[in-house]
Amino acid sequence: MIVSTAKLFKVAYGRFAIGAYNINNLEQATGLFRGTVMSKAPFIIQISKGARKYTDKRFLEAIIRAAEQIFPEAVFAVHLDHGDEESCNDCIKSGFYSSVMIDASHEPLEKNVEITKRIALRAHERGVSVEAELGQLGGVEEDIVGSVRLTDPDQAKEFVQKSGCDCLAVAIGTSHGAYKFSAEPGKKMGLHFDVIEQIHKRLPGFPLVMHGSSSVPKEEIVRINAAGGKMKDTSGVPEEHFQPAAKLGVCKVNVDTDGRLVWTRVHREFFRDQPDKFDLRDPGKIYIEEYAKMIAHKNEVFGSAGKLDEVRAKVS
Ligand code: 13P
Repeated sequence: MIVSTAKLFKVAYGRFAIGAYNINNLEQATGLFRGTVMSKAPFIIQISKGARKYTDKRFLEAIIRAAEQIFPEAVFAVHLDHGDEESCNDCIKSGFYSSVMIDASHEPLEKNVEITKRIALRAHERGVSVEAELGQLGGVEEDIVGSVRLTDPDQAKEFVQKSGCDCLAVAIGTSHGAYKFSAEPGKKMGLHFDVIEQIHKRLPGFPLVMHGSSSVPKEEIVRINAAGGKMKDTSGVPEEHFQPAAKLGVCKVNVDTDGRLVWTRVHREFFRDQPDKFDLRDPGKIYIEEYAKMIAHKNEVFGSAGKLDEVRAKVS
């Protein structure tokens, strides 16, 4: 059942975080639905601007519509990740998306407010909620390469009041991609809880979003490299940071990289161990199962596992 993102946040706020998972293809979508049903968790399925262009957005939308029928017990919202004005307007008009992200965080404050406000007005007319971003994450997200600028808590309050957004992506120490906290001497590893606390104090009850939430498990990197990969030593968001962040209003945590790592590990190991094989469905089946396991584990870590029945009763 596709539901409103705002309603999901209402149930989760201050209690647990909801996993927002990026999908790009059929195998990922299947693993995602299996994993969330297995762990009885509500979730957000998100499609980025890049994913919409990968083949054709209609393929991914059709996969989600089919999954809604194949997994009738699933409760989820559909979200556009890192949209610009054009893709936001397209998703709002389509009537299919529960929420859109307008990412104008690279613009000066006033311009970010102006663009976000324009999208929020259009979205709200159609019952779609809007995620905006203030501050800048580091790392690489598709075509976006960011340098870090943590969110200013005073600006966050002003931005939310002026822009009319429904939730805010905040820069609190994470970055996109696999190389988040790569060993620089003196560099802080993990979240800036002081900044989250300050934002929470100024915006009590307002849902916050954490991008760059992959944990980049060491074991994945070791296995990828043992199967021929050449990834550098790195680490992601410590798993024990998510639930304390959720208590401070972080409702949505975005995960993309960890799913890509599972894909890379499964396929590298498969072809290393069985070089005579050539049927794409063989590693595909393994990937679906491994991705489902990863999703179920994340939902435990975020505290959303086991909340499906409660959420269904409250949002429908
Ligand atoms: P990761 O790269 O940490 O998975 O973050 C993904 C993300 O924030 C998508 O918007």
